[in-house]
Amino acid sequence: MELYSDGNHTALRYLGHAGFIASHRGVKLLIDPWFFPAFLHSWFPYPNNRDLLDTVRDERFDFLYISHAHEDHYDERLLRMLDRSITVIVPKYRSKIMVKRFSALGYENVVALGHKESYELTLGFTVTMYLDTSHKEDSGLLLDLDGYRFLDLNDCNTPMSELPGDVDLLAAQYSGAMWYPNCYDYPPDVMRKKVETVRGDLLDTLYRKVRITGAKAYLPSAGPACFLDPELEAYNDRDATIFPQWEDVAGLFAAACPEVGVLRLFPGDTVQLADTPVVERTPGARTSEDLASYRELRRDEWSAFYDEPAEPVTAEEIEAYFAKLQSWNKRFLNDFSKDIRLVADGRMWDVRLGRLAERFVIEGEEPYDPEYTLLLCPRTMRAIIEERTGWEEALLSMRVGLHREPDVFDLTFMSLLRYGNQPVQTMQMLRERQNTETIERDGLRMQRYCPHAGEDLTHATICDGIIECPRHHWKWEADTGTCVDGGTLPLRVEPLDQPAVP
Ligand code: FES
Repeated sequence: MELYSDGNHTALRYLGHAGFIASHRGVKLLIDPWFFPAFLHSWFPYPNNRDLLDTVRDERFDFLYISHAHEDHYDERLLRMLDRSITVIVPKYRSKIMVKRFSALGYENVVALGHKESYELTLGFTVTMYLDTSHKEDSGLLLDLDGYRFLDLNDCNTPMSELPGDVDLLAAQYSGAMWYPNCYDYPPDVMRKKVETVRGDLLDTLYRKVRITGAKAYLPSAGPACFLDPELEAYNDRDATIFPQWEDVAGLFAAACPEVGVLRLFPGDTVQLADTPVVERTPGARTSEDLASYRELRRDEWSAFYDEPAEPVTAEEIEAYFAKLQSWNKRFLNDFSKDIRLVADGRMWDVRLGRLAERFVIEGEEPYDPEYTLLLCPRTMRAIIEERTGWEEALLSMRVGLHREPDVFDLTFMSLLRYGNQPVQTMQMLRERQNTETIERDGLRMQRYCPHAGEDLTHATICDGIIECPRHHWKWEADTGTCVDGGTLPLRVEPLDQPAVP
């Protein structure tokens, strides 16, 4: 069955989440198709898009673009079903992870594009890669379809100064895809405020992307997913979490970007791309989902988590795991030290990070006051220790509970967990820290790139003596550079009347 007539017309079919099929001049590009559960069997597409699976699997595509390695974009189970002769377009990351993975799957035609590198799919159909140029390995793709410009940013945060303009249609995330704050053990009133702040920040970032790209229309995409394991039911609450549906925030968007049209699509819908895009609804398309029946339908898939090995880990295994992780990241860690605690199934291990030459994992004695405590079930712990999953994936699964004392984000510690298994990323963080490029704004000379994740502070807000990063909204005092919200890393800043420090 054809998904749609291709001819020479220009169409975009939505597959749910961040998945699309773009068709132009007879060429079909499949983008981030996601059907099977991600992150330790916890995330599922919402609404259910499985009735599109057969058509995606059986259809012939000319190109496939996968934006990054997160399992809600890189769906390996699906990728094993596709025809290997397809040409795959991937971002050229420092780690080369995408090229390596596709080669391992038997795909022979892999085109890796660097930041702002273009590739012509056919005359009149060109794609251009946009990377998150920081240590994070995310990407978006600009499709130029005979002058019609569709920018698929999914959940990528390309620095704002690097984003293209004159965009006709922007697809980007509006809902969260993070464990903070919902996996932390905050009291209800604190949690409410933090959720509200994160939701506001996510929308603020979206408004900026819309304005900077000059998007004429916006297509809500890349989330939220849903959680079908009853253990994770709380994360389906659209009010109490950072995972709202579009209808929950549509009014705020309309007030902030009144001139921007919104294309609200559901899995299977097609939009004919033109100055005035025309949406063709799929008859019977799912606009929402009864979670109880969806859960029953996918029982085999979410309950597969409980078939995984759950044999308790030992102190020796934990010690060996962290020794390896730290030895891979020696230069990044430098003189870092931190006490953390792991708790699983009533057992507890205190880990003194930053120490390799002594016994640094102690079970059960509570000898330290840890700054971070991580609560996991033995299955999750074992999957991490055996490197069947990484911390990033385990955290995204929402199967890890967190507590921190004091309540301050530690970038080095979290980066060790999230990126430590790809030391090329932590090395890039080191390089970013050493970057001395500055900008001048509002009577200040300050470092150009945010110490958190490399956003270009050219677009920072400076107001009432506070500098605020436009991406994750860390804040610093303008006169001292002290971080007052978000993390701990200071910002290099000085008044313009002082000579520049080399
Ligand atoms: S990049 Fe995250 S706060 Fe600046």
